[in-house]
Amino acid sequence: MKAMVFHGPGRRSWQDVPDPEPVDPTDAVVRVTAATICGTDLHILKGDVPEVEPGRVLGHEAVGVVEQVGAAVTGIKPGDRVLVSCISTCGRCSYCRTGVYGQCLGGGGWVLGHTVDGTHAEYLRVPFADTSTHLLPDGVGDAAAVMLSDILPTAYEVGVLNGQVRPGQTVVVVGAGPIGLAAVETARLFSPGHVVAVDLAAPRLEAAKQFGADVTVDAAEDVEAVVAELTGGLGADVAIEAVGVPETFELCTRLIRPGGRVANVGVHGKPATLHLEQLWIRNATITTGLVDTISTPTLLKMLADGRLDADRFATHHFALDEFDLAYDVFARSAETGALKVVLTR
Ligand SMILES: NC(=O)c1ccc[n+]([C@@H]2O[C@H](COP(=O)([O-])OP(=O)(O)OC[C@H]3O[C@@H](n4cnc5c(N)ncnc54)[C@H](O)[C@@H]3O)[C@@H](O)[C@H]2O)c1
Ligand SMILES: [Zn+2]
Ligand SMILES: [Zn+2]
Repeated sequence: MKAMVFHGPGRRSWQDVPDPEPVDPTDAVVRVTAATICGTDLHILKGDVPEVEPGRVLGHEAVGVVEQVGAAVTGIKPGDRVLVSCISTCGRCSYCRTGVYGQCLGGGGWVLGHTVDGTHAEYLRVPFADTSTHLLPDGVGDAAAVMLSDILPTAYEVGVLNGQVRPGQTVVVVGAGPIGLAAVETARLFSPGHVVAVDLAAPRLEAAKQFGADVTVDAAEDVEAVVAELTGGLGADVAIEAVGVPETFELCTRLIRPGGRVANVGVHGKPATLHLEQLWIRNATITTGLVDTISTPTLLKMLADGRLDADRFATHHFALDEFDLAYDVFARSAETGALKVVLTR
């Protein structure tokens, strides 16, 4: 089969590799029918995730059709159409037993395209297939479903649920990339008073309006003043950090009211300053997290019921054998305007 293989920093190729087969009895092999690329795949390509070894097939987001199952797989069978979650869950360890799949101790967690071969391929071996895939209803298309592998559960769980967004509240989302936009969309589910999107790029702010932000602010402006004006001088109830740099984390801690919450979603590569000398008196709560994907069944139901629009993330479409071009278009998103690129067959 063909797959997108990482060959060390800056080097990748769409090339022939051996077809995957079930290794453990809990594995399935899925024929990929849709895949998308994540900013994390670009980080791997830059060499920012050193545990990814050369030779690894990239990618952790896909939809496909089950081709083969191991002897212990009972919940899915060949021919079933499934969503592959970016997080695998053994279902048995102490974390998985409490829904914290991201921290799985039994060989799951974020493994696809990280420590085992990933989804950017014609076929994929899915570990712990019974608990790490979701059967897809007929009415849900591939391009929409693949947004549930990673971006929608990530934004919803690590941003909106950790931030405890409540009706009537003011929510600020800093960073309007795919994750920030998914946070805007899923924050709306709780009927907040205002959803404010902050970004440096005008096209991203425009997109944020389409996804449900009622106020957009250029990050170069005085964001604190805009939020203060909107909240009678108090500050936001919830600030969701969806960039991953020290400035935006620190901005979020300044944007919240006393008793407010900062939900950090961004992946940080550098230390940020925690201004406890200002925060100690303000009853602030700061949360961090890796997605667990425990909300995926709920989000899938909402997608099937038409309560969530996932198609609009897919700005660029390619055939599955156009991975080279798709990576290029996604990596140049500032020029191409790409949010999510979707590859299908
Ligand atoms: N916690 C998790 O489980 C998890 C999972 C997936 C992704 N992430 C992280 O979430 C973050 C967002 O992901 P994404 O795919 O949307 O990234 P992205 O790079 O596509 O989007 C980031 C956005 O932030 C904007 N931005 C950059 N600097 C800014 C600044 N100073 N102020 C305001 N906006 C600024 C950019 O213009 C861009 O629109 C990344 O750090 C990613 O690694 C976390
Ligand atoms: Zn991802
Ligand atoms: Zn586990």
